[in-house]
Amino acid sequence: MELKLKQLKQKSLLELQTKKNLQELESWNIKYFSRQNGELTKILRSIANLSLEEKRKVGSLANQIKQELSIAFNKKRKELKNKKIEEFFDVTLPGKKPKEGHLHPITQVKMELEEIFKSMGFEIYEGNELVSDYYNFESLNIPKTHPARDMQDTFFVKSETLNLKSETNSKFQIKTKNQKLNIQKSEDFVMRTHTSAMQVKIMENKKPPLKIIVPGRCFRNESTDASHEHTFYQMEGFVVDKNISIANLIYTQKVLLSSIFKKDVKVRLRPGYFPFVEPGFELDCSCVICGGYGCSVCKHTGWVELIPCGMIHPKVFESAHYPKGKYTGFAFGMGLTRLVMMKYGINDIRLFMSGDLRFIQQF
Ligand code: DAH
Repeated sequence: MELKLKQLKQKSLLELQTKKNLQELESWNIKYFSRQNGELTKILRSIANLSLEEKRKVGSLANQIKQELSIAFNKKRKELKNKKIEEFFDVTLPGKKPKEGHLHPITQVKMELEEIFKSMGFEIYEGNELVSDYYNFESLNIPKTHPARDMQDTFFVKSETLNLKSETNSKFQIKTKNQKLNIQKSEDFVMRTHTSAMQVKIMENKKPPLKIIVPGRCFRNESTDASHEHTFYQMEGFVVDKNISIANLIYTQKVLLSSIFKKDVKVRLRPGYFPFVEPGFELDCSCVICGGYGCSVCKHTGWVELIPCGMIHPKVFESAHYPKGKYTGFAFGMGLTRLVMMKYGINDIRLFMSGDLRFIQQF
């Protein structure tokens, strides 16, 4: 019997070493330890028939072997389990990179500008893309028959097709003092042609001092080419208070552009015409590419035309029902899309809306 036990121990241990997975290990366990007919179980059972003296001898040997085998079994099981985990996490295999999206280049620059403006004390407003003719034109001193309407080819939207709530449903809700009046003014709706459309809407609801920017999407009924697109982004800005002067306008633009381009820039004003400012200007910035020496970007002039701006026209304050002569202010309209084109040297505006991933993935 003792010999039988020793042989069994040897045989089973040898077999144990050959087990390659948990399934094989389990069948080994059954073969030797199963309650009904496990090989070791059978021997242990037969001990009962031995004489008392033999029982004592063989019994303790059998228990010892049983213990050794179960230790070896547990050890092997641990080994196989770890191996399984190692197989699963094979760190040498090349990983699968999850596809990640990212922000559109216009959004990236927009957010960067918003941070700069916030640090200069500006508040950010978002307006509606569908606005009344009144806010887009008339309130800005561009009456129905004004030739300046030709400057901005417009998508007009018939009011019958609209639920008038649409103007109050969007993110930036304005409660007008006289809602009835607002609806009367809103007979004709347009896809806003510029973010200046928010000027009077905001002024109607906020008293100066105001320091505001309005980034957003604008629409024009353009035939598209490399520099014209029906959908583009602007960032309107305006500052209103007592005694705001052109000097404030120049200083703000200089600080702003220096932070955007991360270098000290010079600015200059040339006369420009926009019905809602008087005087109106085109603000040029010293060319950031050549530093003012002349290159193809600045057409060898050293200056790049960048921001239309001016001192807010008294008619605009009148639309906002501000007391006559009490406040002055300046406004500017940055072409956000144009700025991004300059920043990255993009020569076709149509790429932004193309949905072409080969373009977008470069940013
Ligand atoms: N809204 C004008 C446009 O889209 C740009 C503009 C010009 C905005 C002068 C202003 C400004 O605030 O003062 O053409």
